[in-house]
Amino acid sequence: MKIRIDGKETEVDPGETIMDAAKRAGIEIPTLCWSEAFGGQGVCRFCTVEIDAGGRRRLVASCTYPLSEESDVWTNTPAVREIRRNIVTLLYRRAPNSDLMKKLFHEYDCREIEASDPTESCIMCRLCVKACEKVGAYAISAVLRGIDKRIATPFDEGSPDCVGCGACAEICPTGAIPLKEEDGRREIWHRSFQMSRCEECGEYYGARPAIEHVQRRLEFDISSENLCPRCRRGKLAAAVNDVSLHREELT
Ligand code: SF4
Ligand code: FES
Repeated sequence: MKIRIDGKETEVDPGETIMDAAKRAGIEIPTLCWSEAFGGQGVCRFCTVEIDAGGRRRLVASCTYPLSEESDVWTNTPAVREIRRNIVTLLYRRAPNSDLMKKLFHEYDCREIEASDPTESCIMCRLCVKACEKVGAYAISAVLRGIDKRIATPFDEGSPDCVGCGACAEICPTGAIPLKEEDGRREIWHRSFQMSRCEECGEYYGARPAIEHVQRRLEFDISSENLCPRCRRGKLAAAVNDVSLHREELT
């Protein structure tokens, strides 16, 4: 099936999203709640594009819209730009402390607006919740409604489900999740976790419960050697080198 994105013809599989097709065609569509790892969520609507399918022209979220017929897609029309500007204005109002929102606010030439809480950075993209689900911890979720909506652990207390992996803080586009590492301990979501120390280089590299959690989920045991990812890679590369040298000697 063929579609055109900004006039560029591209082949797509039925059911493929506009976002995936655009990425393959080398066309960038801005996103706030999409990630390489999970795809689109349809939460922020920042990826809105205009589509003409079957003679009907409308605005859709490109990260979740499945292509099912020949279509024309435009990623940067006046209507699309206006929607994005409105989204940025609203999100900046919610999270004026976020560097990303400050940058977008200027980029989209938004009108000044009174922010609700000057210390807020969270844009409620839910990427952190998605990451937590993917890790299999389910420790955080969106709570409350309307402008009070926020991400939290149950009752705003340390959750026994949190393994301290830090995936939520890592994926957060606005740096809204505080994660502190000091003296071999990681603090996040009202809890403090002992970190593992690499037996090779001595660096702390991850919360122990998170490492054990991954081992349990993937059903493999790496605990015989306590190595950080860098030293593990180094060791693996050295082992591969040894095998190659040995092979050369034999030939
Ligand atoms: S804390 Fe970060 S990742 Fe989570 S919803 Fe807020 S902005 Fe998104
Ligand atoms: S990136 Fe598509 S809705 Fe957020």
